Amino acid sequence: MAKAKYTTHLGMVDILPDETPKWRALENIIHEEARKFNFEEIRTPIMEQTELIVRGLGQLTDIVSKEIFSFNRGDDNYILRPECTAPVVRSYVENHMSQRGGTQKLYYIGPMFRAERPQKGRQRQFHQFGVELIGADNPLVDVECIAFMVAVYNRIGITNTTLKINSVGDPESRERYKSALKDYLKPNFDKLSDLSQKRFDKNPMRILDSKEAEDQEFIASAPVIQDYLSEESASHFKQVLSSLENLNIPFEIDPYLVRGMDYYTRTAFELISPDLGSQDALAGGGRYDLLVEEIGGSSTPAVGFAAGMERLLIACEELEIELVPDDEVDVYIVTFGDTAQTWGINFLPKLRELGLSATLDFMGRSMKAQMKDANRKNARFTLIVGDNELESGDFVLRDMHASKEELLSEEAILTKFRTT
Ligand code: HAM
Repeated sequence: MAKAKYTTHLGMVDILPDETPKWRALENIIHEEARKFNFEEIRTPIMEQTELIVRGLGQLTDIVSKEIFSFNRGDDNYILRPECTAPVVRSYVENHMSQRGGTQKLYYIGPMFRAERPQKGRQRQFHQFGVELIGADNPLVDVECIAFMVAVYNRIGITNTTLKINSVGDPESRERYKSALKDYLKPNFDKLSDLSQKRFDKNPMRILDSKEAEDQEFIASAPVIQDYLSEESASHFKQVLSSLENLNIPFEIDPYLVRGMDYYTRTAFELISPDLGSQDALAGGGRYDLLVEEIGGSSTPAVGFAAGMERLLIACEELEIELVPDDEVDVYIVTFGDTAQTWGINFLPKLRELGLSATLDFMGRSMKAQMKDANRKNARFTLIVGDNELESGDFVLRDMHASKEELLSEEAILTKFRTT
């Protein structure tokens, strides 16, 4: 086949008609689970002000320093959102959502953009679903957030996952820990990777996240943050863990789990899958009690997570889980000749009025081609219409699932569907 003149950008992919059904099935599940948990959907613009993302995520994070897509137009600086926490918080503050009262339980689904080197499970345009619970300090809110995340994966059947959890403490706990970590690493500074040496002064906790081989022996016996948590942070963490136990949500404490954004405080967690290769994080999140204030709101605690939808679909493939939306075609009208096609076009609205999904072939293709198309669309019934049927007034209605046929008049077909 000739090479196309125009192609998508590196790391950006088309989701083709053969794939959209599983996306729709996934989105339906997310909406349904969100309804059960009483989350409200929020949709924010794909572009934000660059300053919001830089302030929100932190200047020195990988995302901000290396991976953003941004451009100027006039005096304005635009950024394609790399994640949705800062945008949701911006919207919360801008729209005075605190006035709605109580904890805002928000969820979203949508594309995010990061200029990373593409590989399996890593794209430059990818999709996340996520939640942000804004307004409450209660450890039970952290647990509600995690319970929703786990519910979605359980419902789909992705259960061979590990929930890793840690507390990254409040800023004071973290300062104490950072200085202990630096004291511990200092004697071996020269043996650390270049990247870790760069992180040493500005962001030493990120060294714990290093994948470089030469850092591993130092990470393995580094001090753990739990020993430096304030009483308040330690008790919050303890309550999160005991509530997870009460809900039978298994977890593994990972004292070296740090997340890629600066906004995290206290609880931090990731859901890991063994089916994803090197990009093994299905989802991640945590508390960000200082972000609302950081971007101009009043001091408001919050917690959330986001999940990579492409990675979830890769895990489904590995586990041979098929996601099928319940939106198959109910009736596919197979027609022969122009008169039959015209009859079909006139009959479609009668089926649709009954709430059925119905279609026909517009290209006058062979019976074989039309039946193949009906099968591909997972049609429940085919209705066969040719000159003979039009003359006799009786049509073959074939139940594709039960492999049974009935000969019925137009009125009898409508009565059948009206009563089923
Ligand atoms: P994150 O860990 O950067 O967190 O992203 C969450 C998930 O998005 C990852 O676990 C992964 O599944 C997916 N993901 C990230 N980058 C890519 C990529 N380039 N290609 C494919 N999938 C990707 C956040 O985004 C935070 N906003 C989560 C959060 C919400 N924290 C609090 N509230």
